[in-house]
Amino acid sequence: MVAGSLLLAGCGGDGDEAEPGVSVSGGKIGLAMPTTSSSRWVNDAENMAKQFELLGYEPLVEFAEDNVPAQVEQIQAMIDQGAEALVVAAVDGTALADVLSQAASKDIPVISYDRLIRDTPNIDYYASFDNFRVGVLQGGHLVDELGLRSASGPFTIELFAGDAKDNNAGFFFDGAMSVLRPYLKQGKLEIRSGQNKFAQITTAGWNGEVAQKRMANLLSANYGSENLDAVLSPYDGISRGILTALQADGYGKGGKPLPAITGQDAELDSVKLIVAGTQSETVYKDSRELAKVAVQMTDSLLAGATPEVNDTKQYNNGVKDVPSFLLQPVNVDRSNYETVLVDGGVYTAQEIGS
Ligand code: GAL
Repeated sequence: MVAGSLLLAGCGGDGDEAEPGVSVSGGKIGLAMPTTSSSRWVNDAENMAKQFELLGYEPLVEFAEDNVPAQVEQIQAMIDQGAEALVVAAVDGTALADVLSQAASKDIPVISYDRLIRDTPNIDYYASFDNFRVGVLQGGHLVDELGLRSASGPFTIELFAGDAKDNNAGFFFDGAMSVLRPYLKQGKLEIRSGQNKFAQITTAGWNGEVAQKRMANLLSANYGSENLDAVLSPYDGISRGILTALQADGYGKGGKPLPAITGQDAELDSVKLIVAGTQSETVYKDSRELAKVAVQMTDSLLAGATPEVNDTKQYNNGVKDVPSFLLQPVNVDRSNYETVLVDGGVYTAQEIGS
């Protein structure tokens, strides 16, 4: 019952229907995660596994290391091992229709975790954040850092997006562009490469090295004497790759200050860069809370109840509107990292080195 109240506290549910912890716990739950190369997914998996265990379930955790066939095999193996439910953060949100039809044939409910699984009727619920808002926060940070409301500029900016196969990538980009587009139109922001379309700026596998190469190419082709003032980056791992390319090009020394650069996930390595004044922003998404949502959804479904949702319209996966519970992301920069991340119990001051 301790675990049950933990869950209810996290989800804000009134507990009328599925009361977590008193239902059909005991079964295996498959947790299919994309990669261990990013600390956030490791944390997400640990948080969920812990909470499922507290409710008496047996979590089966697998990481696919960004390999699509490997993830399909892992999910298949979970089904074969008798998983009662699946929680999946997809490597490629469009590649799971076949294996999920296997799950459906065995009445195994599926929660799409953080990344929406597309092109299949066989997902039940979506647990994520307000992904458009993530982009709004990133764009808003650049507006603030450059003082775009009052300064006339023009300032130079380059844009990066996430993996095209991740449904979130477009939401982040659209959110950021909803803020930045008016300044591009007014000429206060200028993209010297001209690369302003989603398809031109995506980063395969959310990979920092891929982004590093693209940044190096953009700098050599477009920024000779002119400095780059801002970079829209969707995720901390990408931001760190971009920063490596910028520093190799002489940014951060002498008369060449580093551009303002956004991020996401508040990964420890990036939080340290924020404290050092290198990366200027990240978006924190509390994976402890996301884990609670996913666990609560799964537990409710297995108890035959209806999980609590707070959005039924924003996320269509190409087949249906997927009922969703969306948490709120938080902007983090030098001014508030202590309050949000240290006081919030995410990292100790010692870990951050502040
Ligand atoms: C997205 C996720 C982001 C970030 C990114 C790279 O799907 O929403 O928070 O983690 O993947 O892993």
